[in-house]
Amino acid sequence: MMRTLTVLISGIFFCVLFSGAVFAQLAGKAIVDNACSKCHGIKKVESASKNAAEWEATLDRMIKKGANVTPEKRDAVLKYLNTLNK
Ligand code: HEC
Repeated sequence: MMRTLTVLISGIFFCVLFSGAVFAQLAGKAIVDNACSKCHGIKKVESASKNAAEWEATLDRMIKKGANVTPEKRDAVLKYLNTLNK
């Protein structure tokens, strides 16, 4: 009984964790598709290959230029950008 409960609880825990990660990634993609395709095509973003620090620097440069990414969205955007690395 205790074992079933433990398995159940960790199962729920992993589902929440996993869907959270997937959600952040999907949300990031939606923001990027919208905010990063105005001045140049989205291809410029998708074809770039950068490490986490480079993406951070690039994102901040784009925000200075006028990309519509609020501080609350920044994390989700960076998470998504880091999935583009080859
Ligand atoms: C206000 C216009 C504008 C918006 C919005 C914008 N960019 Fe840019 N982007 C530029 C310009 C201009 C360049 C070329 C000059 C440069 O690299 O600074 C560029 C170049 C780039 C490059 C190629 C240069 C490099 O460093 O690899 C990438 C990648 C990039 N942008 C990503 C993004 C992302 C991600 C977003 C969304 C958060 C975004 N851009 C939104 C204007 C914009």
